[in-house]
Amino acid sequence: MAKRKPAGRDVEMSRDRLAELLNEDLSREYQAIIAYVVYSQVLTGAAYTDIAAQLELHAKQELDHALIISRQIDYLGKMPVVTPKPVRTSKDAKEMLRFDLDNENETIRNYRERIPQCEAIGEYALAEQIRQILMQEQDHQIDLATALGIEGPDVGGGPQGRASRTRR
Ligand SMILES: [Fe+2]
Ligand SMILES: [Fe+2]
Repeated sequence: MAKRKPAGRDVEMSRDRLAELLNEDLSREYQAIIAYVVYSQVLTGAAYTDIAAQLELHAKQELDHALIISRQIDYLGKMPVVTPKPVRTSKDAKEMLRFDLDNENETIRNYRERIPQCEAIGEYALAEQIRQILMQEQDHQIDLATALGIEGPDVGGGPQGRASRTRR
């Protein structure tokens, strides 16, 4: 068991390096806020009523994530960034949703790495907060995949991630 190194521990982790990585995460959260604010309002047509309402909820949850991540960066002694990752736009509804799904996939990949990275330097409470965010990102991923009619995305959330969907 000790043989296999988790992906997150390939790089020597330090508080500074973790703060840098969290700043990347924060840029992705800003990107998500902007995308969901805009897409939730411009997605029109009967076919998209449900998903547009879901995207509004996502926008609010992404703001919560941004607040949590920036608090963690400050706690690690660094300044939170103020720049979002680029937001792609499209006039095509399916393409918009596809962009969102790509972004959520990327976000999930990163947070999955972040958890062992936090734990590698003994920041267990921080890891726990990222786990909570990750569960919501997985919900976002499922919402988008469902709207796009994509079967069985790699949610990897287990029973807990699934159960969280019964809230709404
Ligand atoms: Fe988020
Ligand atoms: Fe998300």
